[in-house]
Amino acid sequence: MAIKRVGVLTGGGDCPGLNAVIRGLVTRLAAGGVATVGLLEGWRGLLEARTRDLSVADVRDILHLGGTILGSSRTNPFKNAERDVPRVLENVKKLKLDALVPVGGDDTLGVAAKLYTQHKLPTVGVPKTIDNDLSGTEFTFGFDTAVEVCTQCIDRVRTTAESHRRVLVVEVMGRHAGWIAGFAGLAAGADWVCVPEEEIDIEALAASLARGREAGDLYNLVVVAEGAKLAAGGAPGGAGDVTQDGSLDSFGHVKLGGIGKRLAKLIEEKTGFEARHVILGHVQRGGAPTATDRILGTRYGVKAAEMVLAGEFGRMPALVGSEIKAVDLSFAAGETKTLRPDYLALAKVFYA
Ligand code: F6P
Repeated sequence: MAIKRVGVLTGGGDCPGLNAVIRGLVTRLAAGGVATVGLLEGWRGLLEARTRDLSVADVRDILHLGGTILGSSRTNPFKNAERDVPRVLENVKKLKLDALVPVGGDDTLGVAAKLYTQHKLPTVGVPKTIDNDLSGTEFTFGFDTAVEVCTQCIDRVRTTAESHRRVLVVEVMGRHAGWIAGFAGLAAGADWVCVPEEEIDIEALAASLARGREAGDLYNLVVVAEGAKLAAGGAPGGAGDVTQDGSLDSFGHVKLGGIGKRLAKLIEEKTGFEARHVILGHVQRGGAPTATDRILGTRYGVKAAEMVLAGEFGRMPALVGSEIKAVDLSFAAGETKTLRPDYLALAKVFYA
């Protein structure tokens, strides 16, 4: 079947570099004689048939912009599959889409993989998350920008921590994996890094900070991923996820946030050092992408277009070594890619 019209959508948490993907995809598809239609706000756009045409001129000036010109949402057509999946399939026909390119994380691409395997919808996914926790690809765009923002923020709190001889606990994103915490902690020279891959040992953390102070440290920086968990014994208020409230999104995820506050209090109690916390939250997902993310997003977008033109469906572009290759779409919804242990080991070299 000749491909003439392709629908693109961006779903899940936004991240810097999405517009670079859209620009790369639209431009390369146009060169191959294929038109691109933007579906607005993730899967919701396909459910409601809300679109905007995307010409090369439309995407010419978006490379440097954060967020996504298409909007995003955490809509899950499989939440009420009986009602919504037929709507998706009808709208694909109605909009005359010959193929789909969903750009997203494990949730969005999980939907894409089901539509491909269960309904034979020609689909090329593009992996995306600032958390960098998708399997099959070494790095996702948005991650580098998030690490850069976090590093700059930690550099900023360093000076006030030093003035007041305080412990500053900086909470960063990272639901299942500590990539952002690990990299930002390394780049900013943190005294301790807490990640979801390892339960937080509050006694060891407090003892290390105390040793550092005895050796002359005036202040401390601790980086914690939002998904890091306290060990049962050291967690008044309970072990497990610290959440903003009990509510779940449409993929069943809790809203994380607050472990930094809990940790700062515990550190103060255990060490007697005054502690403060800061939650970077969505600051790290906003703003312009770094040059690295612009290039990575462009590579993913252009490769996705070439895969569509070649009829290579059920797959996604991925960074394998230093090359962009097509890998199976099922990787994205598969096992979480956790922080490589050697990075955490590297951070620990600098613990007191
Ligand atoms: O999916 C990436 C992520 O940034 C997670 O680290 C975080 O828990 C979540 O998104 C926050 O999502 P929302 O924007 O819906 O609050």
